[in-house]
Amino acid sequence: MKVWFITGMSRGLGLSLAKAALGSGDKVVGTVRSNPPNLSAEADRLCILRADMSDPENAVRVVHDAFAAFGRLDVIVNNAGYGLLGAAETSTDAEMQHLFEVDVFAPIRITRTALAYMRRQGSGHVVNITSIAGRAPGPAIALYAAAKHALEGFSVSLAQEVAPLGIKVTAVAPGQFRTDFLDETSARLGNSGQDAYAETVGAALAGLRQVNHNQLGDPDRAAQVILDAIRSEDPPLHLLLGSDALRRAREKLDDLVREMAGWEARTVSTDHTAPE
Ligand SMILES: NC(=O)c1ccc[n+]([C@@H]2O[C@H](COP(=O)([O-])OP(=O)(O)OC[C@H]3O[C@@H](n4cnc5c(N)ncnc54)[C@H](OP(=O)(O)O)[C@@H]3O)[C@@H](O)[C@H]2O)c1
Repeated sequence: MKVWFITGMSRGLGLSLAKAALGSGDKVVGTVRSNPPNLSAEADRLCILRADMSDPENAVRVVHDAFAAFGRLDVIVNNAGYGLLGAAETSTDAEMQHLFEVDVFAPIRITRTALAYMRRQGSGHVVNITSIAGRAPGPAIALYAAAKHALEGFSVSLAQEVAPLGIKVTAVAPGQFRTDFLDETSARLGNSGQDAYAETVGAALAGLRQVNHNQLGDPDRAAQVILDAIRSEDPPLHLLLGSDALRRAREKLDDLVREMAGWEARTVSTDHTAPE
């Protein structure tokens, strides 16, 4: 039986994950900002804590409280997060700071705090919910993409630091999933910019509005795949979820390889000439 710590389990992917973990017999400590979901049937294996991840002290406190609840932390899932949509040029400092506090700094603070417990256990699994926007972003999400790239980079370096300590890391990059993510109850809509951005930011925002609550991805199925990864002998460092994520990631990698090859001669031309 594993003990999971999941942030943002009020709804969406976090709630699906909590249900899947409880359904498989594990224990769950989950965080919510306000109203807890109705999971009373599993009350003896469930602990709900309150935390707004924009408050740095909350992010650290809940990890200590989570450990205290069941005496171990086997899996931590940094799931709580939101999207900031709009033009990069018109984003404000306040929007940027809040976004990075919730989507980047809180997951890093939570991970740092949990690592002390996991090191003592000699085992643990850190799951960071990033996004395909953290690997292959489009327009209208530049700040969100920056935040999710940051969490991807953190995960990759961290994995190498903690592997010898028996701790695993998985960065999960979902494509578009049918949650409240694009809803006005979740996403923050910044300024979509002037006419200059109509064909890029404006068009992307219109597309996102259209797909809201009609996304291809099923969060309950995503939760099952994350459970499979946790139970795997050899879990992936990078896990894509959804056929759209797979397609976008492949296109991005192909473009990257093509671009690298096109500039290869000049890339290597910057080395010092080896002495004769
Ligand atoms: N759905 C997608 O298409 C998609 C794609 C790629 C990545 N993701 C990522 O998946 C994760 C889960 O999103 P979702 O799709 O399940 O969206 P969601 O339905 O909007 O759920 C978001 C969750 O994060 C919580 N949250 C947001 N801001 C918070 C804050 N300041 N403090 C504490 N909790 C906060 C929400 O709590 P409240 O109920 O209190 O607001 C909610 O539990 C996010 O990290 C998101 O970036 C989603």
